[in-house]
Amino acid sequence: MPRPVTVVYRVLPTPGDTARAAAQLFTDAAVKAATRGIARIAISGGTTPKTMFALLANPAEPFLKQVPWDKIELYWVDERCVPPDNAESNYRMTNEALLSKVPLPAERVHRMEGELDPEVAAARYESTIRNTFRLEGAETPTFDLVLLGMGDDGHTASLFPHTEALNEMSHIVVPNHVPQKDTWRITLTWPVINQGREVAFLIEGAGKAQVVRDVFLGPYQPDTHPSQLIRPASGRLALLLDAAAAAKLPKSADSDSTGTLELR
Ligand code: 6PG
Repeated sequence: MPRPVTVVYRVLPTPGDTARAAAQLFTDAAVKAATRGIARIAISGGTTPKTMFALLANPAEPFLKQVPWDKIELYWVDERCVPPDNAESNYRMTNEALLSKVPLPAERVHRMEGELDPEVAAARYESTIRNTFRLEGAETPTFDLVLLGMGDDGHTASLFPHTEALNEMSHIVVPNHVPQKDTWRITLTWPVINQGREVAFLIEGAGKAQVVRDVFLGPYQPDTHPSQLIRPASGRLALLLDAAAAAKLPKSADSDSTGTLELR
């Protein structure tokens, strides 16, 4: 049975407003975690996070000064199996929009090596996480913040519908063959994502409205909608959406357009 979770969703008028709310969420989570010594943050790729990254790196915005960059360890939730200079690379996108512009020490940036054989890359990333989190035995990592996106097919990270990685319960990182894209991906597993202290979806665009409704209001079919596997152990899941992506969610009475959904 899936774990019950409270989804706290916030609907922002535009993609720009959504990116700003996400930059604030990133900043707040980093500041809070840094009081414990280090902020370990796992980010997504795709296109949606780009504007948030640009806001975080923009000296004219408040975030660049507020984020404790020297206390951050940065990880990815997934990567495409391409070299880091490839246009498809999540690392490249993040480097261009954020890393090349902020004072985050390179040794604290842990990219997935998409250029390697997927099995090898996944195993190496699992040991990178084990070493940097100083895990022992069967211990698994607790990220301070996991930022997720959602594909219009209901996938998140590289957990695609009807793929092997959906059944993975013991590894931290796995290679995942995605026949529907005729490609391989490297991805964190969903039990590890669910262990995150804060887990948040950032979703934009009318093209996502139906899948958002299916994932959060539809029947529980995680093989078809893998984003339904995201049920954090904390019992809370944050959702930042623009109005277009939230078009098929219950209208919130609240003026600041926040609402909650109880997933049972
Ligand atoms: C990736 C991502 C993936 C992404 C969704 C949404 O590597 O593609 O990590 O899970 O979050 O595909 O992508 P968009 O933001 O481009 O819609």
